Amino acid sequence: MAKIGIFGAGYVGLVTGACFADLGHEVVVRDVLPERIERLRAGEVPIYEPGLEAVLERCRDRISFTLDVQEAVAGSDFLYVAVGTPPTYAGDADLSAVWTVVDELPDDAQAIVVMKSTVPVGTGEKVRAALDARGLEAVGYVSNPEFTAEGTAVRDFMEPDRIVIGAFDEEDGDAVEALHIGIDGPVVRTDVNSAEMIKLAANAFLVTRISFINEIANVCELVGADVKHVAEGIGLDHRLGPHFLRAGIGWGGSCFPKDSLALKQLAANSGYHFHLMNAVIEVNELQKRRVLQKLQRHLGRLRGKSIALLGLAFKPNTDDMREAPSLVLASRLIAEGAEVRGWDPVARPELPGVTLHDSPLEAVRDADAAVIVTEWPQLLDFPSEETRAAMRHPLIVDGRNLLDPDSVRALGFAYEGTGRRISPTDVLPEAAEPELEPSE
Ligand code: UGA
Repeated sequence: MAKIGIFGAGYVGLVTGACFADLGHEVVVRDVLPERIERLRAGEVPIYEPGLEAVLERCRDRISFTLDVQEAVAGSDFLYVAVGTPPTYAGDADLSAVWTVVDELPDDAQAIVVMKSTVPVGTGEKVRAALDARGLEAVGYVSNPEFTAEGTAVRDFMEPDRIVIGAFDEEDGDAVEALHIGIDGPVVRTDVNSAEMIKLAANAFLVTRISFINEIANVCELVGADVKHVAEGIGLDHRLGPHFLRAGIGWGGSCFPKDSLALKQLAANSGYHFHLMNAVIEVNELQKRRVLQKLQRHLGRLRGKSIALLGLAFKPNTDDMREAPSLVLASRLIAEGAEVRGWDPVARPELPGVTLHDSPLEAVRDADAAVIVTEWPQLLDFPSEETRAAMRHPLIVDGRNLLDPDSVRALGFAYEGTGRRISPTDVLPEAAEPELEPSE
């Protein structure tokens, strides 16, 4: 079994560390945030990730946490880099945390550096050159991108669709592959640049699928088709597959927005205008704003109207608010003069101007509309006699097509989904602002 030092105790670092410890390796996770390390040492898990706590608990004696670089490096065979690579002002990936790790390596380091953080293509070559320039030729370098999704990260790590390993040196690649013994999944061995591109291209393809189905949904609304049926019908084609065809109010999260922008900028910096990526990103920006038009169609002007946002995290089963569509929605609603309330079973963000409530029922009391922003399963039984009676206008805008339109309408709600047929009985004319008479 190997000794692995992991730099970064965020989602990726903790999941990677916990899973490697579960496979029997000895793991030291290093972070620069004292509070985070203290909590981890005390047995607390600072992020909401189903299954992670159980794995960490199970492997307590094989995983430790430190602020000290030396402790992570000493005796380690592998040094995983799992630090954040947020976008810079220019939209490129900010690699300063990656470079700090590389710069902090001691002069006698011997391990293999393994890049888990998502980085632009060419980063491995630059790191290799920097290591060589420092006389650290003995330090290996391997790209081993991550494909785990938040909420299912532990399962995704242990039961991956593939493990991608890009190495300069075959032996280093073999060593990283051997770390994964015990995990069943195809291994793709390649060069470093291609491994880096696989990661970016995979995320770019996933967002392209979502933006595609979102545009199909928008057309469905105009022509009277139902995107759920359309997605099912096209997803059964084995060449297309059923995944990532859920239409909604746009994709968010810590990865998709930053990685799609980073790929677009990587292409631009290399002299290529990536038309499709630009369109995919723009479609997503517009998608988040479409809910307002739906609310306006039912309620007229939104000034003074009270709108409840149900589900705030960027997707269910996480407390992550990074690039959550709820953020854009809330700020657009506030800009229109609406009063905005929010509910989420896990995320408790401080959103300026948004009042948080402890239950969906409280959030919608006297509200003019409820918007399902994140498809938490808890919202499946949100429509009821009680919630309808509590609302000033029983309007549900289902941004994720979570609910069954017929049963919601049968309960007396007006319902509007995403890419679904609009019922003429759904309009709440009494809620609309009266048309202004043209002045004489
Ligand atoms: C995503 C990828 O799915 C992972 O493979 C990848 O490793 C990860 O990014 C990363 O680069 O680290 P994640 O951001 O956790 O994972 O979440 P997803 O489940 O992919 O969802 C992303 C967004 O797309 C969410 O806002 C979700 O609501 C939206 N989405 C997803 C849709 O709107 N429709 C779909 O059909 C699927």
